[in-house]
Amino acid sequence: MKKIIFSLLLTIGVINTASAVEGNADAGKTKAASCASCHGATGISAIGTFPNLAGQKAAYIVKQLADFKSGARTNMMMAPMAANLSEQDMADLAAYFSIQKRTSEEAVASDDSSAPATASAAGSVEIVTSTTAKGLYAGDVKAGQEKSVMCASCHGADGNSLIAIYPKLAGQSASYTAKQLANFKSGERVNSIMAGMVAGLSPKDMDDLAAYFAVQTPTAGQGEGSDIGHKLYFGGDVNKGITACVACHGVKGKGMAQAGFPALAGQNAAYLKTQLTSFRSGSRGNDRNNMMRNIAIKLSDSDIDELVNYMSSLK
Ligand code: HEC
Ligand code: HEC
Ligand code: HEC
Repeated sequence: MKKIIFSLLLTIGVINTASAVEGNADAGKTKAASCASCHGATGISAIGTFPNLAGQKAAYIVKQLADFKSGARTNMMMAPMAANLSEQDMADLAAYFSIQKRTSEEAVASDDSSAPATASAAGSVEIVTSTTAKGLYAGDVKAGQEKSVMCASCHGADGNSLIAIYPKLAGQSASYTAKQLANFKSGERVNSIMAGMVAGLSPKDMDDLAAYFAVQTPTAGQGEGSDIGHKLYFGGDVNKGITACVACHGVKGKGMAQAGFPALAGQNAAYLKTQLTSFRSGSRGNDRNNMMRNIAIKLSDSDIDELVNYMSSLK
């Protein structure tokens, strides 16, 4: 009897150190939806600094997730992703990714050739948190100011639009703004008002305008705030496959300029709502690798309302 209990204890001990809970790959597949925007749906990432997870050893994946959660391994994108994962979630995710094939064909096939060159060259994307939301700008601020006269009626002279359906541009990263202007011109982002505004702009005009608005100070948001929105923003929802917004848009909603993630803090609520709804329906589809569409499609109307109330209240 003693012997049996002893060997039982031993076995449990061994299982415990390998992995505390048994993973289920099917459950993991569903939960992996919130990882897809960065690691790819099957664990083959399209971005140089985001690791492939396909074919990785399950126990290693579980350990890394536990370390990101405990803080033993630090990474500003993975910390919020791991924060809400249970041991079961980690085991399921690891089970799913570990059995995926390690081939890069899919990543190549899904790589958007129209994406900025910085993103497609492996390893060339440097993710840096921008605390000021001011990008690295190619443009000339002074020249941008002169050209911005025709934008002022809707976006405000300093980029702080007073009309809720028009976005604030003040403090937005220059790289993001310049990309939007180019997208309106090429038709990748569809809006009839803005299409007319950008038709005559050269790439240099776009850079100048973007630089001018990037150095303006955004006014505080008018949003009322939301606890539910706050929770979703920081934690996402692993069961619904919603990636935490904080991973890309930052702790204070200031975005990450070099990665092309826009600032959202204090943005006009009505505008934010239109954008999330447009990403959800696919009518806005200028997000590289479907980053926002994959997330927005999982958001309910009330999720959107709560998130918008939260983001528009950020200073
Ligand atoms: C916003 C982008 C983003 C999202 C979303 C994301 N990750 Fe990551 N992940 C990263 C980055 C960047 C790294 C590399 C971290 C580093 O450099 O230390 C990483 C690293 C990892 C690693 C370590 C890999 C290794 O080889 O050491 C694991 C495991 C992982 N992620 C799992 C996940 C899982 C599971 C999810 C979904 C629940 C997820 N990630 C969602 C960006 C993301
Ligand atoms: C007549 C009003 C109007 C004028 C004038 C106007 N815009 Fe806009 N702008 C809009 C609207 C409406 C949107 C939202 C489009 C959408 O919903 O996709 C927008 C969106 C934008 C965006 C996207 C912001 C984001 O956060 O993604 C940028 C950048 C922008 N405008 C820059 C400019 C610039 C630069 C000018 C001047 C050259 C200009 N706009 C002139 C109405 C205007
Ligand atoms: C994997 C990174 C990533 C995550 C996670 C993410 N976003 Fe985004 N988001 C982006 C990118 C990239 C864009 C800009 C797309 C483009 O180039 O036009 C964007 C754009 C937006 C915009 C439009 C901003 C504007 O000025 O037009 C809103 C609103 C938004 N995101 C909200 C959210 C919310 C809410 C969440 C969480 C539920 C979230 N995002 C999670 C990457 C992300």
